[in-house]
Amino acid sequence: MRRFGRLSYQRSQSLLAESSIAGQRQDCSYRSGQILELGSGTGKFTRVMLEVLKDEDVQIIASDPLGNMCEHFKRLLPDTEIIQCAAENIRLPDASVDVVIASQSFHWFANTTALEEINRVLVPGGLFGIIWVLKDFSTPWMAELWKFFAPLYKENSIIYPFEEEWKNVFNLTPRKLLATLKKI
Ligand SMILES: C[S@@+](CC[C@H](N)C(=O)[O-])C[C@H]1O[C@@H](n2cnc3c(N)ncnc32)[C@H](O)[C@@H]1O
Repeated sequence: MRRFGRLSYQRSQSLLAESSIAGQRQDCSYRSGQILELGSGTGKFTRVMLEVLKDEDVQIIASDPLGNMCEHFKRLLPDTEIIQCAAENIRLPDASVDVVIASQSFHWFANTTALEEINRVLVPGGLFGIIWVLKDFSTPWMAELWKFFAPLYKENSIIYPFEEEWKNVFNLTPRKLLATLKKI
């Protein structure tokens, strides 16, 4: 995982996304097919995927459960399809996508219902990629900031990506969905 101390949020997100896509492509060679992005929000990660994969034969379908996020997304990326749905109820047919990607969002749906849905929409042998920017708690101000945010996460039962308990959900599913975990 890289550190991006002084870079602006947008730029750091782009750099992370570019390296994430490069890393995942190396491992899984997705050069054609359908990619579903879960929790796309306003399309920050989608924009980078579109740029990095522009010469490949891939179609990206974005998704987010919130109507206002989808509206914002459509204004920014009018040529990219977005469907309004949660990861727990994906509005796509069985075995219809080759890759599912969750950038900065899996902590919202790290549950068995979502994993079963992801498994349902993926083609056999399809890939699920999770991307997070992890906080660097060796930086004092970041550690201080986290003291403020930690109770809010707890109150809302949000899984902390950096504490790795999110991996437990993969053990609760009947199928083996997690092949490898890799930090890039
Ligand atoms: C921090 S934003 C990430 C946006 C974008 N993917 C990025 O990389 O910047 C998290 C997104 O997850 C979405 N989300 C929350 N609960 C969700 C769920 N159950 N299923 C799918 N997405 C969800 C939120 O609406 C929000 O847009």
